Amino acid sequence: PVWVLCVLLTSLIHQTEQDGHLPPVKYVTVYAEENDIFKSGAWVLNVAWRDEFVENTESEKLMYDIEVLRTEQMMRVHHETIQVKADPTTRHQWKWTSPLPLQCTSHSVRLRRRDQHQTGNWSALYTYEGQDLNASKTTVYPQDQYFLVGSSITLCCILKAENVPSFSSHMFKIRISNRTIITKPVQLYSTSRPIILDCDDAGTTVFIGYPPDDQNLTCVTRDLSSMQCSWNHGRETLIEGLKGETKYTLNGRHCQFSPCVLPENTETSWTLTAQNPLGVKIINDTADPLHRVWLRAPKNILSNANERNATLQWSWDLQKYNSFSMICQVELNGHIYNKTFSGTGLKSFVLEDLQPFTGYSAKVHCGSSEHFYTWSEWSEMTLFRTKEDIPEPVDVWMQYLEESTYVIWKQLTKEQSHGVLTGYEVTITDTKNKTSSNHAGPNTTYYSDSAENETGDHMISVSAKNSAGLSPPASIIITRYPGSSVNLKRINGSNGGFDIVWLESSSSTCGYVVDWFPTYSKEKCAVQWKRIPAGHLSTRIESKFLKQGVRYNVSVYSCTAGAPQLLQRGEGYAIEKKPFEKVRNVKGKPNGRHLVLSWEKLPLDKHGGFMLGYKVTIFHSDSNTTMKPMITEETTVNLTLDPGSYAINVSAFTSVGEGDNATFHGRIEKDLLEMILATVLGSSVAALMFIIITFLCYRRRKWLKKMLYPDIPKPKLSGQWTKKGIYCSEMTERYMKCEIQEVHSIERPALDAADGILLIRSNSILLPTNNLHQNNSKFPVVSSFSHVTSFITLDPISSRPCVQKLTSAIENPTYNIISQESGNMSLLSEPALEMDDSYLPTPNNVHNHFHDKDF
Ligand SMILES: *[C@@H]1O[C@H](CO)[C@@H](O)[C@H](O)[C@H]1NC(C)=O
Ligand SMILES: *[C@@H]1O[C@H](CO)[C@@H](O)[C@H](O)[C@H]1NC(C)=O
Ligand SMILES: *[C@@H]1O[C@H](CO)[C@@H](O)[C@H](O)[C@H]1NC(C)=O
Ligand SMILES: *[C@@H]1O[C@H](CO)[C@@H](O)[C@H](O)[C@H]1NC(C)=O
Ligand SMILES: *[C@@H]1O[C@H](CO)[C@@H](O)[C@H](O)[C@H]1NC(C)=O
Ligand SMILES: *[C@@H]1O[C@H](CO)[C@@H](O)[C@H](O)[C@H]1NC(C)=O
Ligand SMILES: *[C@@H]1O[C@H](CO)[C@@H](O)[C@H](O)[C@H]1NC(C)=O
Ligand SMILES: *[C@@H]1O[C@H](CO)[C@@H](O)[C@H](O)[C@H]1NC(C)=O
Ligand SMILES: *[C@@H]1O[C@H](CO)[C@@H](O)[C@H](O)[C@H]1NC(C)=O
Ligand SMILES: *[C@@H]1O[C@H](CO)[C@@H](O)[C@H](O)[C@H]1NC(C)=O
Ligand SMILES: *[C@@H]1O[C@H](CO)[C@@H](O)[C@H](O)[C@H]1NC(C)=O
Ligand SMILES: *[C@@H]1O[C@H](CO)[C@@H](O)[C@H](O)[C@H]1NC(C)=O
Repeated sequence: PVWVLCVLLTSLIHQTEQDGHLPPVKYVTVYAEENDIFKSGAWVLNVAWRDEFVENTESEKLMYDIEVLRTEQMMRVHHETIQVKADPTTRHQWKWTSPLPLQCTSHSVRLRRRDQHQTGNWSALYTYEGQDLNASKTTVYPQDQYFLVGSSITLCCILKAENVPSFSSHMFKIRISNRTIITKPVQLYSTSRPIILDCDDAGTTVFIGYPPDDQNLTCVTRDLSSMQCSWNHGRETLIEGLKGETKYTLNGRHCQFSPCVLPENTETSWTLTAQNPLGVKIINDTADPLHRVWLRAPKNILSNANERNATLQWSWDLQKYNSFSMICQVELNGHIYNKTFSGTGLKSFVLEDLQPFTGYSAKVHCGSSEHFYTWSEWSEMTLFRTKEDIPEPVDVWMQYLEESTYVIWKQLTKEQSHGVLTGYEVTITDTKNKTSSNHAGPNTTYYSDSAENETGDHMISVSAKNSAGLSPPASIIITRYPGSSVNLKRINGSNGGFDIVWLESSSSTCGYVVDWFPTYSKEKCAVQWKRIPAGHLSTRIESKFLKQGVRYNVSVYSCTAGAPQLLQRGEGYAIEKKPFEKVRNVKGKPNGRHLVLSWEKLPLDKHGGFMLGYKVTIFHSDSNTTMKPMITEETTVNLTLDPGSYAINVSAFTSVGEGDNATFHGRIEKDLLEMILATVLGSSVAALMFIIITFLCYRRRKWLKKMLYPDIPKPKLSGQWTKKGIYCSEMTERYMKCEIQEVHSIERPALDAADGILLIRSNSILLPTNNLHQNNSKFPVVSSFSHVTSFITLDPISSRPCVQKLTSAIENPTYNIISQESGNMSLLSEPALEMDDSYLPTPNNVHNHFHDKDF
């Protein structure tokens, strides 16, 4: 064939170029490595040869050039220079891993010797034949093989000769021989799915994954005769299926996955081999089987409870356990019981120190006591309830309240009751050793000592009762009328509690009792107490037992064989607060410039702290000023105030601050005397004016008449007219200046005359003069216009108007104080007014005056 010729020619040319002193290599064999997967795609090409020429060389090492060619196209796919030890007896071997299965096409190999100076002639070509020479059907290589994640492979497809021209595929594209088409190198990424490739009427599957990675082989014995070995998968192999799955052998025995049981416990070392198409993993474990005992869970657990102890019982399914020495642990109500139990084949134990009448849940686990390895699994849970037992003694104390004595005890807690309380037995033993018993309900916490009036002590004993019986009695000796009186000291709180200190008492035989209760509470059981052992002379009442702003009475008693003896008593607030309420019923009684303000004391339980007094803040509404607050301890103050409106705040205060304000609103009027004085003065001035004007009018009456009303008895009010009038003005205080001025009629005098209105221009002041003509009264008419009060007098003879402008301080005649407290209005004083007859104030006038400051 042409290509053989070509090869020969090339090699010939090649060789002639060299200095062919070295003879070509002979005895070469070329073969594919045979393994499990060899038929579905062989990847490793072996080349073996022997070199007799070696004998002639002196060098230790031999060097060869090796070339691999894809035979059909004579395409060199690999070349390499290798070094081997010079040894004529050895067969040299060289391996090459092909990027393409060797079945895809024929591969030829040739070698030549070389040394430092020269290169030998190439050997002949030695060919490993591909399947493309004689395959009868379409074949794809590799066929269904497994590859490591991350490897890169090239696949080939050998087509039937007649299909070659028409073949097209998007994967198989590179033609390397008459019938073989290959893919580009395919990178295999980690994926749990195999890749399926088709070529014409054939196909292949490429599986991708990892070799096994099993870890942590551990062998234990559970039945004391066989070994059970377990391990875990490390990394997933990703390949499954018949051929892909990992196969295990443990100490040479075939195994399924963990756990794997070996029937004897004679071996002390265990080796696990895990294998899949991509590799093998071997792990091992070594131990004395006796040190690897993992017992099974106790079975059939039972419990049997008394009042304060309970027996747990269980059984073992395995005979061997009965002679095995073990330790066991209990979990009681979720906590490990602090005692462990040990014994041979342990089957029961007693739990002690349990609470009576309490539900428990328990479970047990056990382990080897000689060579403890691990605990067994837990047994099932067993539930039991301890029986009722007699209650604990109650804590009894007493309180003298409003001349009655109460015996009080603390309600037993669930833990102290040891069962369901049915009540309390109260036994009274009097001085004559006479006893009487009373029954009290389970929710009762006091007994009102209403025995016959006696002066002697008597003893009261209290026992709590449940179905198991009566608790030991707790007794207290009561003195009917406790004569002992101690001074009530004031005590201060500290950090929300009280720190109580007392002096040692010789009477104390069983320590001390400190009790406390809200001073102003009438509640029977409000007393709380604390027992202090002998030797201690101080205690603290914690803030959790105390309320803020509540006054407490704290007493210290010595505990004696007889009645408790009061040692000291104090009162105070754990934390002082502002008063809780406003003072009530604020009343003001005005008396001239004085205002007597009074209010009620706060109820004792609303003080919030030690009351320091009352704060009175006066606000003068007229001048918008607040006076310096006044502090008083009384509930009445006598205030001296200037006339005006006031808002007065009264609040009680403690060291913490003042409570809410109660507000009193009121007015202080000017003195009546002052007012009368002003009125009289005003009237005298007015009278003087009147006389002067009358006199003037009289003196000039003829002239006036002539000037103003010549010959006409009745004023003629139509047409243009100009008349003169008298105008008086105040020059200085108490002097008037009067002038005669022209009086002009206005545009429409008829209308005005008809209405009886004269408009008089006098220094731009217009004065309405109601009933000027009709009314011939001598009384002056008081009217108001702008800010001027005017008196218009009519001359009784001529009926001519005389106008007088007056500036006079006329006091507001009304006089009242409106008290307002908590929104209630009350009129405290009626208007008191005496007026001169000559003044007729209109309500309007009064009102204006009231508001006019300039007046
Ligand atoms: C090498 O080849 C050339 C040409 O074919 C030949 O002349 C020569 O003798 C060969 N050398 C040896 C050592 O065989
Ligand atoms: C390859 O094909 C060519 C022409 O089609 C043919 O001459 C040659 O013999 C074939 N080679 C082989 C090895 O079949
Ligand atoms: C194997 O055991 C070691 C320690 O004993 C642990 O850290 C590791 O997580 C275990 N491996 C597996 C896969 O459980
Ligand atoms: C497993 O056995 C080998 C040798 O037999 C030892 O080197 C290795 O430490 C063993 N591994 C374990 C986990 O026992
Ligand atoms: C358990 O309680 C019962 C009844 O109270 C008592 O007789 C017994 O001695 C107790 N057992 C133990 C071990 O304390
Ligand atoms: C268990 O606890 C109880 C109460 O706390 C104690 O009295 C007892 O001594 C403890 N027992 C052991 C074995 O620690
Ligand atoms: C009461 O009884 C006690 C002992 O039970 C006895 O010591 C005491 O003297 C008796 N008192 C009277 C008054 O009987
Ligand atoms: C006692 O009080 C509890 C709750 O405070 C109540 O459920 C129970 O009925 C009361 N028992 C009696 C006898 O009053
Ligand atoms: C007890 O005292 C009250 C008032 O102090 C009196 O009314 C009553 O009669 C007395 N009872 C006896 C039995 O002396
Ligand atoms: C009083 O004073 C307050 C605040 O200074 C102001 O808002 C208010 O208008 C004043 N009232 C009068 C009547 O002057
Ligand atoms: C208030 O004080 C004044 C003088 O300070 C006195 O005249 C008046 O009588 C006092 N009023 C009362 C009710 O004490
Ligand atoms: C009561 O009124 C006074 C002034 O009138 C004021 O300073 C004080 O803050 C008020 N107190 C309260 C608690 O509102």
